[in-house]
Amino acid sequence: MLGGSAMKRMNVQRVICWWVFSLSVTVVGTVQSAGTPRTDAVKTAVVGRSGREIYSLECDECHAKGLIGAPKFGDKVAWAPRIAQGSTVLVAHVLHGFKAMPTKGNCMSCSEDEIAAAVRYIVTAGK
Ligand code: HEC
Repeated sequence: MLGGSAMKRMNVQRVICWWVFSLSVTVVGTVQSAGTPRTDAVKTAVVGRSGREIYSLECDECHAKGLIGAPKFGDKVAWAPRIAQGSTVLVAHVLHGFKAMPTKGNCMSCSEDEIAAAVRYIVTAGK
């Protein structure tokens, strides 16, 4: 049998051991959960979809055929007065919705950069 003071020392050691262990688990856990969204944000920024991809994903639904009064893709006459407004206005109109066009041209998963890329793609085809 161990004496009372030796027992006490062992208990203290065990508590410290446990404390260090759980602390390291907490630290690792925090770093991992804080790291995850950051990597995702970087991924989206770096691997943002191209204007062409966004266009064929959402915009062509209306713009390919000129549905509900949408200026047709590649129709230079229809696009000329719109392009004349400048790309800042065009991108803002898509982001906030414009007349019959829904907010973000229906692409709710699109970032501002992706919308701007899709506008550039449409505008280039309409010039
Ligand atoms: C539900 C149909 C619909 C979808 C989807 C749609 N648009 Fe449109 N869009 C329209 C209509 C309708 C107009 C014309 C609005 C007007 O002037 O009456 C328009 C106009 C525009 C204009 C010109 C705005 C201006 O100021 O003249 C741009 C640029 C544009 N769309 C880009 C896009 C992009 C980029 C997407 C995809 C992210 C998209 N649209 C998706 C219907 C749509």
